[in-house]
Amino acid sequence: MSGVLNRPRDAANPLRQLTIDQLRQRTSLKWREYPADVLPLWVAEMDVPLAEPVARAITDAVARGDTGYPAGTAYPQALAEFARRRWGWDGLAVERTALVPDVMHGVVEALRLVTDPGDAVVVNCPVYPPFYEALAHADRRIVEAPLGEDLRIDFGTLEDAFLRARPGGRPAAYLLCSPHNPTGVVHSEAELTAVAGLAQRHGVRVVADEIHAPVVAEGARFVPYLSVPGAENGLSLMSASKGWNLAGLRGGLLVAGPAAAGDLTRVPVGVSIGTSHLGVIAHTAAFRDGGEWLDALLSGLDDNRRLLAALLAEHLPAVRYQPGQATCLAWLDCRALGLGDDPAAVFLDRGRVALNSGTTFGTGGGGHVRLNLATAPELITEAVRRMALAVA
Ligand SMILES: Cc1ncc(COP(=O)(O)O)c(C=O)c1O
Repeated sequence: MSGVLNRPRDAANPLRQLTIDQLRQRTSLKWREYPADVLPLWVAEMDVPLAEPVARAITDAVARGDTGYPAGTAYPQALAEFARRRWGWDGLAVERTALVPDVMHGVVEALRLVTDPGDAVVVNCPVYPPFYEALAHADRRIVEAPLGEDLRIDFGTLEDAFLRARPGGRPAAYLLCSPHNPTGVVHSEAELTAVAGLAQRHGVRVVADEIHAPVVAEGARFVPYLSVPGAENGLSLMSASKGWNLAGLRGGLLVAGPAAAGDLTRVPVGVSIGTSHLGVIAHTAAFRDGGEWLDALLSGLDDNRRLLAALLAEHLPAVRYQPGQATCLAWLDCRALGLGDDPAAVFLDRGRVALNSGTTFGTGGGGHVRLNLATAPELITEAVRRMALAVA
């Protein structure tokens, strides 16, 4: 396998620049969790080199010995300009932002601002597994509002969840994943406006995790939650982490709508100062100067979504895949394969390919797997070949 996968790559596509031998040198989670005979297409790390503007910013900072605490507003400024350019949104006010160490810490901090221990938080399952762990750790009660058959928000179910979330009028929040992980669904402006209206009517505060916002397919339009009418008291978490593969250079931004500005003043100083200064430098460079690199990545991901759909149709036609319009992730319904709740275990044991088990994504995840498309097309082809062999 390694011969085929080590051939020279197309320089324009960040997903085609590294060989499998180079990737196996990596020491991060994706490439170290499993033995060397396993092809890892699981955790949302991308098999790309660091974007040049980001690498330069970090290298320059290291050369200056600029490794102290974070300061200034360059990060929110860069994000505000990115939001204006990419999403046509000019409502991101730098003074209504706070640095957070990363998105998941930011999610927990945001929920602490609007709920108390024991209060409920609504999530749309199946959803990013660490939501469950973080909410349990923060002593919040999880109320599930499963997505509809079409993988979109089911508003009847959501309203029912909002009602269950507020017994006796206690505070409650809705942790919206936008775009949605694992399905890659991009919520429309109409859907987000409906979310804001419903949340307002039921007195539920919305915290939107928008970490995947930069990673959208051609033709799709990401709408920032805080840009829709009725979302004024919302909170959002944004980051360059998913768009530019910066999980190792941590940093996020908590962004408040105009009516939530007061909440931000209660974010402890220690939370913002706990953000990595090198992370802030990296994320700033990505949002400010990484647009061209991002476009090349997005077009590579578009190709990979098409490739995966074609490969599955040919080799595993029983697997249902509705290509998402965002994220580098593919959510595969493997129930028709008859492998039970955890097909990922079968693909790993028999096929030596590592995918995320759907069972960790909450209700509705059983019988599904999540596959990470942010890799070379050759590795996706090899993964599907192995998956097909595993069930042959
Ligand atoms: C929806 C979502 N939120 C948060 C994270 C993690 O972000 P961070 O590493 O900044 O905590 C991820 C990572 O994949 C994610 O998919």
